[in-house]
Amino acid sequence: MSTITVTAPAKVNLHLEVLGLRPDGFHELAMVMQSIDLADQLTFQNRADAQVVLSCDDPSLSLGDDNLIVRAARLLRDRSGFSELGATIHLSKRIPIGAGLAGGSSDGAATLVGLNTLWGLGNSRQQLEAAAADLGSDMPFCVSGGRQLCFGRGERLEPCSAASTSLAVLLVKNPAVSVSTPWAYQRCKELQGATYLSGEEAFELRRQTLRTARWLNQPSASCPPPLRNDLQQVVEPEVEAVQQALALLRTLPDSLAVAMSGSGPSCFALMENMEACHQARDQLAEGFFAAGLQAWCCALQPNGVTVQVE
Ligand code: C5P
Repeated sequence: MSTITVTAPAKVNLHLEVLGLRPDGFHELAMVMQSIDLADQLTFQNRADAQVVLSCDDPSLSLGDDNLIVRAARLLRDRSGFSELGATIHLSKRIPIGAGLAGGSSDGAATLVGLNTLWGLGNSRQQLEAAAADLGSDMPFCVSGGRQLCFGRGERLEPCSAASTSLAVLLVKNPAVSVSTPWAYQRCKELQGATYLSGEEAFELRRQTLRTARWLNQPSASCPPPLRNDLQQVVEPEVEAVQQALALLRTLPDSLAVAMSGSGPSCFALMENMEACHQARDQLAEGFFAAGLQAWCCALQPNGVTVQVE
């Protein structure tokens, strides 16, 4: 029986700007997301009994109806019109859960892409991104990944140049801590709602400023992303694990910038290259250990989910 293997990379936010509120209650965002090479792996096999059977090597992950893999598989089957389609799916989890790294979204995107291939449905990338948008705001980005501008709820994508860069990411997270994304946005609204922009004209001005940022198409050590994350201002004061991670990363003399990713609690330092990244991790090893933080050295990845057929 054929097995399809799909790699699902994590992302970090090089920019997360909260512009305002939308009529649907979500926040209007201006973001730049960047795939990194910390990745989950999923395998897919056909079954003809219309069941979606999911297993995972991490027992802490819910495998029920709330899992984005299960939801993505059912959505794709329902839209295909072939109600007998089923799949056995196994997830090797490497991306920390509830971390602001879009691990769940990337798994969902990998499911759409993997099952589209396995079931021979022939959906275009645009159709898969549209299906992804119905499941989560970060999920459309994860389909093609790389580095993209993400507007609207996060689902309006504008790709950046794929120019290669040697920049590397020193990523840290306390494995015992997770942050709820709805809580972070709710807190942001409470604390900063009064200064939110309103109206499409004001939003578009901010989008245009981001589109023309010098670092966007070719980030480098001499022109690094300044790293802005508006959720950091509301999460950092309340989550000790974020304070500890940022305090340690801020001591690095040669980091280009430091920030939280997404709604946290993962934080990262942008380094000139992988060698500097490894040195920084060694330098902070004792501090990470004392604070209970895990650390990864990650390269920037030029793509999102990738499929291998065996
Ligand atoms: O779309 P997703 O399921 O990832 O969003 C999780 C929650 O985060 C939403 O229910 C909403 O509370 C908040 N959110 C938001 N604005 C966005 C994205 C997410 O308020 N653009």
